[in-house]
Amino acid sequence: MASPVTTIQNVGAYVGQTVQIHGWLYNKRSSGKIQFLQVRDGTGLIQCVAVKSEVGEEIFERCNSLTQESSLTVEGVVREDARAQSGYEITLVAVEALGTSQDYPITLKEHGVDFLLDHRHLWIRTPRQRAILKVRAEVMRAVSDYLDSHDFTRVDPPVLTPSSCEGTTELFETQYFDESAYLTQSGQMYAEAAAMALGRVYSFGPVFRAEKSKTRRHLIEFWMVEPEMAFAEHEDNMQVQEALVTHIVQHVLTHCEDELKALDRDVAKLANVKAPFPRITYDAAIEWLKSHGHEIEWGEDFGAPHESALAEEYDRPLIIERYPTSVKAFYMQPDPNRPEVVLCDDMIAPEGYGEIIGGSERIHDYELLAERFETHNLPTDTYAWYLDLRKYGSVPHAGFGLGLERTIAWICGLEHVREAIPFPRLLYRLYP
Ligand code: 4AD
Ligand code: MG
Repeated sequence: MASPVTTIQNVGAYVGQTVQIHGWLYNKRSSGKIQFLQVRDGTGLIQCVAVKSEVGEEIFERCNSLTQESSLTVEGVVREDARAQSGYEITLVAVEALGTSQDYPITLKEHGVDFLLDHRHLWIRTPRQRAILKVRAEVMRAVSDYLDSHDFTRVDPPVLTPSSCEGTTELFETQYFDESAYLTQSGQMYAEAAAMALGRVYSFGPVFRAEKSKTRRHLIEFWMVEPEMAFAEHEDNMQVQEALVTHIVQHVLTHCEDELKALDRDVAKLANVKAPFPRITYDAAIEWLKSHGHEIEWGEDFGAPHESALAEEYDRPLIIERYPTSVKAFYMQPDPNRPEVVLCDDMIAPEGYGEIIGGSERIHDYELLAERFETHNLPTDTYAWYLDLRKYGSVPHAGFGLGLERTIAWICGLEHVREAIPFPRLLYRLYP
């Protein structure tokens, strides 16, 4: 084979020419004297047509012996074909088999989800999973593009930490020589330190929560982007959240048209996701829920059904702000006029996808934070460095965490967050 090598997404540049494509056999159909090979290469799927009278006995027989997911190189002439999903078809000239594939476990029929999760290392080869992973990469790109071009500097917090950020019940403990260490639940506290060094920062990486939750919104290991801003308050925080989510959604709509189509996503439901987003207070949310038949009292946290009911009213994410101090984390700044609520917000995605962002202004006063350490029984030795930030040039600051997989699940319209990460860690699932 001497013709140029290309990829399926680029065949359009070679109409009428002979090219080679390296890939895998996705599916095959035959009608006696013609075989149709569906070849995938990671960039797309294309049909290669082998006509016995044209390719000859030997190559035709080779096509015949190819099995699902065997790796191969095909050579053929690129033709435009309006009926094909890719817009092109290849008239096969030659084929070379590389790695064989016997009894491939994932056939083209329906499989149960446990079976698919056991075979996640192969499941990601299917067009649907490929589309999701492509969208994931674009969401990550959009996050970085937006923050990098708005004066945020990426700073990476440690994964192994001596203490918790969001509460002690969900920590993964591990041995760190002679002491205990914990896998990070959130990079926030380190981001706060970095904000005092660099102004506007963000962390972006995996976090770990030993949550015994088996819901369609919970992963044990998930990714969070956590912007943190010095000299910023609650209002600034919400504005950055709206702008970031707007940018992510609009970026995916323009860059992932094919993927969203492959996922059958109703993109009309995403078109209106543009700042400003609707905002209500926790107080108003409680009143609304009560008047719509929900049993909930002021002071209780929302559950998934409450969030879904509230968000259903809107065509874009809903911001709920100023929750009771008692249901939120120790580091949140109280409302100066109403210390029973904190200057925080959660962003709830539409269509039942739940909380995608949690954020707040942080306590910047040393005395108040020290008092919180006492009332929450937090060890001041492991957190001494965090208190130091309030001792040496403390400033009002705010930040938030956006859950990457929940955001992807919403944008792609997935049933469950497990498909939004290449290899999900779930309750009682660590394989593959
Ligand atoms: O609301 P959370 O717990 O906030 C924090 O961790 C803050 N320290 C962030 C900050 O202010 N820097 O988590 C933030 C987001 C949630 O809104 C949700 O989208 C996601 O992380 N999240 C999960 N996603 C998947 N699986 C889980 N188990 C998740 N828990 C939280
Ligand atoms: Mg939260």
